[in-house]
Amino acid sequence: MVFVKISVVLTGLIVFTQCLKTDVSQCQNGGPVPNVTLTSNGVVCRQSPCNVYTGHAANILVDFISPFYTEQMKPNLTAIAAGAVVPWPSNQKNACDGITNTACPIVKGEHVIYSYKMDILSLFPEIYATLIFSLANEADGQLATCFTVGLQILKH
Ligand SMILES: *[C@@H]1O[C@H](CO)[C@@H](O)[C@H](O)[C@H]1NC(C)=O
Ligand SMILES: *[C@@H]1O[C@H](CO)[C@@H](O)[C@H](O)[C@H]1NC(C)=O
Repeated sequence: MVFVKISVVLTGLIVFTQCLKTDVSQCQNGGPVPNVTLTSNGVVCRQSPCNVYTGHAANILVDFISPFYTEQMKPNLTAIAAGAVVPWPSNQKNACDGITNTACPIVKGEHVIYSYKMDILSLFPEIYATLIFSLANEADGQLATCFTVGLQILKH
């Protein structure tokens, strides 16, 4: 009896966790859209725009199926704010460093979970920005995955 109850609770938890996704959009230049969970101050953002706070990192969990074989991937974080396109300051050159469930090289069709700690710098103004996030094959620039999400930057 106790075991059955625990199983039911666990199953419920797993289903619940999988539902905690952030609503993201497709990139203009294509790229398969991943399942994304953006967490800021311990809260999962369900709907764009996501509130993020200066001086606090937001965590982006990107879950996708690799469309090709790749030995190395490059992360690209770009923000569009007030009409300007600005590279988001990145703390990672090789996206393979952020993969948590497997290791590079990645084979075609492989399930990849990638985690990134996005710094929201103290000097950022309180502004609405569209974040374009992609992982591209280092060898030829092909997009393994890409999404956009709205961010509302707030002073903490
Ligand atoms: C995203 O999650 C849904 C539901 O769990 C799943 O069916 C789908 O295959 C996932 N997509 C990717 C790209 O991982
Ligand atoms: C990063 O992505 C942006 C937006 O899609 C694009 O304009 C820019 O050229 C990309 N940068 C690199 C180095 O690929």
